[in-house]
Amino acid sequence: MQEIAEHKRSEATLQQVQTHLEKERGFLKAILDHLTEGIVACDEKGDLMLVNRATCDFYGLPEVPMPTEQWADHFDLYLDDGKTPMQPQDTPLVRAFQGEIVHETEMVIVPKLGKTRTLLTSGRAFFDTAGNKLGAVVAMHDISDRKRAEIDRERMEAALRHTQTQMIQAEKMSGLGQLVAGIAHEINNPISFIHGNLNPAAQYAYDLLKLIDLYHAQIPVPNPATQAFIEEIDLEFLRQDLPKLLNSMQSGTERIREIVLSLRNFSRLDEAEMKAVDLHKGIDNTLVILGNRLKPKAGQPGIEIVREYNNLPMVECYAGQLNQVFMNVLNNAIEALDERSAIESLEAHYNTLPSESTLQYVPTITISTEVLPHKAIAIRIIDNGSGIPEHIRSRIFDPFFTTKPVGKGSGLGLSISYKIVVEKHDGQLQCYSKAGQGTEFVIEIPILQPEPKPLTSHPVAKKHFELSGHDRARITCGNLGSYENLVGG
Ligand SMILES: Nc1ncnc2c1ncn2[C@@H]1O[C@H](COP(=O)(O)OP(=O)(O)OP(=O)(O)O)[C@@H](O)[C@H]1O
Ligand SMILES: [Mg+2]
Repeated sequence: MQEIAEHKRSEATLQQVQTHLEKERGFLKAILDHLTEGIVACDEKGDLMLVNRATCDFYGLPEVPMPTEQWADHFDLYLDDGKTPMQPQDTPLVRAFQGEIVHETEMVIVPKLGKTRTLLTSGRAFFDTAGNKLGAVVAMHDISDRKRAEIDRERMEAALRHTQTQMIQAEKMSGLGQLVAGIAHEINNPISFIHGNLNPAAQYAYDLLKLIDLYHAQIPVPNPATQAFIEEIDLEFLRQDLPKLLNSMQSGTERIREIVLSLRNFSRLDEAEMKAVDLHKGIDNTLVILGNRLKPKAGQPGIEIVREYNNLPMVECYAGQLNQVFMNVLNNAIEALDERSAIESLEAHYNTLPSESTLQYVPTITISTEVLPHKAIAIRIIDNGSGIPEHIRSRIFDPFFTTKPVGKGSGLGLSISYKIVVEKHDGQLQCYSKAGQGTEFVIEIPILQPEPKPLTSHPVAKKHFELSGHDRARITCGNLGSYENLVGG
């Protein structure tokens, strides 16, 4: 009887314990199911033991028991780039189970049902007091909204940068063009009348000298006051120097007129339309404008220009815009040559025995032109300046990328040139460089421009960067494409 009573008591206790455990499990499950974070846990064998409701929501599937290593396969799990499929051993729970402390690792899930999500996962294995592994747990936080907001923000920023670049470019182009045209116009009038009056002035001077000769023939011995004045002004020297002086004034005004004409041609405000032009003239005009920067400066030799022009046909283009490209590329070349000259002269200063290269360094820009087989022309602008270090070569066409001091470079020259050549002219702009030795820019322009195409038929522009040889960079711009594609907008 007593045994039966005891049995009943222990059964009741067991029942109580079971009820209590049941209640506790229900309580824990309720807590886990009310968390917005996904929780998954496996036991000491690595079998999945716990999946809370938030996890089921993430995966878009009802709770199904499944070995952890099948997760990556069953659900489409990807690494943080959202493209590389996750290997079973890479799933956070498997990694945690294997002893790794997983800390804020991003994972992308593309469930068969439900939407793609980005989860931030953290987890680790857990042990009993004796140090035996009991299992592993991973918590997952849904950061999809934050990710989407980040992508939207990046897109907006890129769009904003693009608009800003275009505005600055438009302002720079029209501002420069107007300024140049305005100055050219202002200088043109006064210089025209100086130039126009030089011939009559020379004639008057010649007549006056002749008159003096006539007086001298009549009065071979002038009175002492006249004689003193003749000596004071050194009449003989004046007579010889005046024609030379007038000649140099003449060539000076001619040079100014040439520069003014180049400035007007350069800005070509009158030529907003596509026209067939002689590109050699465009390059030469640009060089005339840059003339002052090619001259020797304190401690620096002048820049030598080597023209290797071949016969070029007239090329259909926006002449003013291409001049802008020549200006940007030549400006960069001059700056790179100045930089190297400064380094060379510093080296020369500190070396008592100058190296051979120091003695021989002649800053040079070589401009060569040729017709290419595929009905295009190529203009190569090569400098033996400072060169472009490899680590920045892929960035030189990016808007606002500059290595120049604040206030000196805006970092827009090449991005604008790129846009003009590739987008406006269906051409290519390539750059080859060797740090410390020089740079070559190749501008390729089709001889004839295609009929305007509807925007949708444009192939997507590609900008890719490849290295040929050890240190030659080649940046190739594909066919025609929208600028948005190029700058990632
Ligand atoms: N010929 C060259 N030699 C060496 N570096 C060059 C050359 N051309 C361009 N670069 C590099 O590319 C960068 C970008 O050139 P980019 O013309 O776009 O801008 P920038 O010259 O810095 O400024 P700006 O807007 O005044 O032209 C330069 O800062 C320079 O580092
Ligand atoms: Mg520049």
